[in-house]
Amino acid sequence: MNCLSPSILSADFTRLGEQIQAAEQAGAQYLHFDVMDGFFVPNISFGMPVLGSLRKGTNMMLDVHLMIEDPGRYIGQFADCGADIITVHAEACKDLNYAVDLIKERELLAGVALCPATPLSALQYILPRIDMVLIMTVNPGLGGQKLIPYTVEKVRDLKAMIDGNGLKTDIEVDGGINFQTLQQVLDAGANIIVAGSAVFEGDVAENTKRMLDIMK
Ligand code: DX5
Ligand code: ZN
Repeated sequence: MNCLSPSILSADFTRLGEQIQAAEQAGAQYLHFDVMDGFFVPNISFGMPVLGSLRKGTNMMLDVHLMIEDPGRYIGQFADCGADIITVHAEACKDLNYAVDLIKERELLAGVALCPATPLSALQYILPRIDMVLIMTVNPGLGGQKLIPYTVEKVRDLKAMIDGNGLKTDIEVDGGINFQTLQQVLDAGANIIVAGSAVFEGDVAENTKRMLDIMK
């Protein structure tokens, strides 16, 4: 099933509750929550208290993308705050298998993210254990960037790897997905679509419906 995961990084934080409600009512199934620590990526975003507040106001799947070093340190706290999916970067984990264990112990969906230049071989042994792979289609750390074209080929290769292993792993794409680039990532095999600026710049409900229409 195709799902839209609006990224609140591009939301108007003075109207966050209202904008999230608009996305949810328009049919968005997931809500993407980008956590940045100023180490793994240069920026700092938001964390547990914001996630806890959002949990009280939405039934969407809370899709937490941890762009932080050694993310295992915080998995328990994000689980306590109501995350449904926790995604860690393969590049940021001292022990990726252990980080996945921590997510699974909390009975959450586990995702592994790869930066654009990280090869798919990083997934070889972990793939059967995880629910989702997040392919970064821009460099992590900032909204509103342009999709890096070679990452579309990477999505296609990942889809072949998943199918070849008889798995049903979800493929999430994140960064630079808009009305122009959406179709090509869908065609390549992505089924969870993160969109920040494309959803939150302008009319949130209208943008959400328009994206979901393309994804049908
Ligand atoms: C970037 C974040 C993205 C970001 C996407 O590091 O992981 O989730 O919000 O923003 P857009 O859709 O504007 O490229
Ligand atoms: Zn993200």
